[in-house]
Parts: sequence; C-alpha cells; structure tokens
Amino acid sequence: MSQEMDLTKRFDTYIASEQKIEAKDWMPDAYRKTLIRQISQHAHSEIIGMLPEGNWITRAPSLKRKAILLAKVQDEAGHGLYLYSAAETLGVNREELLDALHEGKAKYSSIFNYPTLSWADMGAIGWLVDGAAIMNQVPLCKCSYGPYARAMVRVCKEESFHQRQGFSIMMNLCNGTPEQKEMAQDSLNRWWWPSLMMFGPSDSESKHSDQSMKWKIKRFSNDELRQRFVDMTVPQAELLGLTLPDPDLKWNEHTGHYDFGSIDWSELQRVIAGDGPCNRERLETRVKAHTEGEWVREAAAAYAEKCAKRNSDQPHAA
Ligand SMILES: [Fe+2]
Ligand SMILES: [Fe+2]
Repeated sequence: MSQEMDLTKRFDTYIASEQKIEAKDWMPDAYRKTLIRQISQHAHSEIIGMLPEGNWITRAPSLKRKAILLAKVQDEAGHGLYLYSAAETLGVNREELLDALHEGKAKYSSIFNYPTLSWADMGAIGWLVDGAAIMNQVPLCKCSYGPYARAMVRVCKEESFHQRQGFSIMMNLCNGTPEQKEMAQDSLNRWWWPSLMMFGPSDSESKHSDQSMKWKIKRFSNDELRQRFVDMTVPQAELLGLTLPDPDLKWNEHTGHYDFGSIDWSELQRVIAGDGPCNRERLETRVKAHTEGEWVREAAAAYAEKCAKRNSDQPHAA
C-alpha cells in the first residue's frame, strides 16, 4: 500500500516537474491505457492515411509530383512504424493492435473516410489535413511520455514538408487555368469542414480531455487548437485567392481571432460510427494489403532470425 503511494507520488512529481515518464517507470494503469489508445489510434491513422493519397500516385500530373507524393505517402508509413513501436513500449504488441484495426474495433482519424476525387485533393489534403495534423502534433513533442514525445519530433518535421507540398499544389492550380482554379476551390469546399472536425469534439463534449491535460499528454484543448488552425489558414486561403466555404467566417476585433460557423457534429458522429463515404472501402483495402503482405513479414522475420543466430554463433572478442 505505502509502496504504491510512493510510486504514485514519484509519478506525480515527474509530471509536475516536466520530467519524461519512460517505458520502465511505474505509471498508473489509466495513464498506460490512455496512451495505448491514443498512440495506437494515431498509428492506425498514419497507415490508413496512406490510402486516399496512394490512390493518386499513378495519376500524378508529372514525374516530379509523382516522386513527391510517393515520398510523402512513404513518410506516413514510417510514422505508423514509429508509433506502433512507441505503443509497444507500453506492453502491447503490434499484431493485437493491427487485429483490432482490421476487425473494425479500433478507431482512426475520420478524415480518411472521405474520397479523393481529383488531383486538387492531394493539394487540399497536404495543406489542410497535414496542416491540422501539425497543429495537433507539435504539442505532443512535449508529451509527458518519453517514447511518444521523441517519435513526434521527426514526425512533425516531415509533416511540415507534407503541408508545404500540399500548399504548393494548390498554388500551382490557383495560378493555372480557370478550370484548375475551380478544381482547387471544389476541393477546398469538400475538405474544409472535415479538417475542422479533425480537432475532435468541442471542449464541452470531449470526454478524455481533462485527464489528459492533467497528465500533460495533451497541452491545449480541442477548441484552442481548432481556433489556431482557422487563424493560420484564413490568410493562406486569401493568398491562394480561394474562398473558405463558411458564410459566418469573419475577423473579430475584440477577440483577435476569426469567428467561424458551427460544425455539423452529427456528420462526425456518423463517420466515426462507420458510416462515412469510404469507411468500408478503406478497411477492405487495409485488410487486403495486410493479407497480401504476409510473405514480406515472414521473410523479414526469417532474416532477422538468421542474423540473430549468426551473431550468437560468432565467438566474442575477449
Ligand atoms: Fe503522418
Ligand atoms: Fe503527413
């Protein structure tokens, strides 16, 4: 009993003094569970996030754009790998996490359940979706759990490249023909509201937020981050010469922020519940990729075993 109190006290002191909690440190069960849920959902979002864009690699308009998009989608696979590894430090294994995803039991970001209908969607996704991801993820570099915080440093550097490549696609289209500009506007119209939903429910409705703030997993509330994103994006849309699809959007001199219209939360609930435009398709594609990739996992495991055996057979230097 008293030993447990000591451990709790030490954990609380670490959190209060901004020291990282490491994999081998004692931590409350609820803290561990929260992190497993958050990190695994994040990992799933990275690999499911490859699908809407992977869809356009073969149809990129130039070799340069193809190479950039390919690199971007590969980065997302890498993010998934760092994050599954970070989750594994908490005592779960990757197969269990992936099984939960494939059986439809685990969640991932609902933004990836929307279809990519035109090349401009590669621009809008990079600009808005990766832009919103950066807003959410930069504070995670200071998250109290060491392995998650460290994984996020590199992820955020790569996300900022993703955001800029998306903006550059939008810029090209907006400086192109009237049809290209229209394509960019149509894409913005479709991605704007789902991007705002990426920050999660409003603070009054968010059930995990308070405790996560106390544990310093989360540093800013959903609504604060959403507001920052709107404030950052409005001038960028102006620079592109595009109109954000919100008649209520306007600068508020008193608050020093942009006011914006209300979000259709019933849409988010519907997509989270599995009834978005592409939920079934995404999951089917993921399961198919996993099944067809079995030989790769087997080959990698056999090779790792061979290397380990070779190392253990070698006589150790004195
Ligand atoms: Fe990513
Ligand atoms: Fe990204």
